[in-house]
Amino acid sequence: MPNLIPLKSDKKPLPTADGSLSLYNITYAEGYHAKSVGAFTESHHKYFVSSGISEKIKSKDVRLLDICLGVGCNLAVTFSGLLKIPDRKKLHAVSLELDSELPLIIKNTDGFWPKDGYDMLRKLIYEGPSNNFLLDLYIGDGIKKLDELDMKFDVVYFDPFSKRRTPDFWTVEVFKNLYRLLADDGCVVTYSSGKGVRKDFAEAGFKMHDIAKMTHDFHKGTIFYK
Ligand SMILES: C[S@@+](CC[C@H](N)C(=O)[O-])C[C@H]1O[C@@H](n2cnc3c(N)ncnc32)[C@H](O)[C@@H]1O
Repeated sequence: MPNLIPLKSDKKPLPTADGSLSLYNITYAEGYHAKSVGAFTESHHKYFVSSGISEKIKSKDVRLLDICLGVGCNLAVTFSGLLKIPDRKKLHAVSLELDSELPLIIKNTDGFWPKDGYDMLRKLIYEGPSNNFLLDLYIGDGIKKLDELDMKFDVVYFDPFSKRRTPDFWTVEVFKNLYRLLADDGCVVTYSSGKGVRKDFAEAGFKMHDIAKMTHDFHKGTIFYK
C-alpha cells in the first residue's frame, strides 16, 4: 500500500478498479471516486474529456471552477492532460474544499495518479503559479464561497459527495449560482445523471446532454450548458 500520511483521520485508502488510489471517507460513508470504475478513469472521462477543456485552452485563457478538491484527482488529471498540449494558453483554476486535511494528504501521499499531474498540483498549492497554471484554493464552505465569487468560468467540475450525503450542494439555488458564474459558451460537468438533479439544473436555466457510459457499471454523467 502506498505511503499515506496522516491516517489519524476519518479517511482510509481506497484502491480502485483501474489500479489508481482514492480515499474512502468514514464520516460521509462514501468514496471520493467510484471504486468500480477507478479514480483516474472517472476523472479523465467524466471531467477532463467531457468538459472539452483541452480544446478550449488551445485558443484562449481558461478559467476552471473545481467543486470540490477532494484528493485532487480531477485537477491532477487535468494538469497532466494539459501539460501535453504545446502552446496552450493560461489556466486559472479555483478550487473549493471544506476539509483542510486534504491538501496535506495530497502533499504527503506518493501513490496518487497521474504523477506529473500530482507534482503540478502540489507545486501550485504549496509554491504558487507554474507553467501557465494558477490555482486559488479556498478552504471553507464552498456553498458560501459560490455566493461570493464574481467571475466567469469556462468550465465547472461539479463533484460533491452524493445528494444523499451533502443535500445542500444539490439545490436549485446552488445551480442558479453556477449559471451566474458560467461563461456563455461554458459547461458544468458532473458524475450525476439523476432525474431530480437534471430537473433542478433545468429549473436553474441549463440545457444538458449525457456523458456516455464507458462500461456497463459506469454510470452516465451530465454536461450542462446555457
Ligand atoms: C467526491 S469528493 C471530491 C473528489 C474530488 N473532485 C477529486 O477529484 O478527488 C467531495 C468533496 O467535497 C468536500 N465537501 C463536503 N462539503 C463541502 C462544502 N460545504 N464545501 C466544500 N467542500 C465540501 C468533501 O470534503 C470532499 O472532499
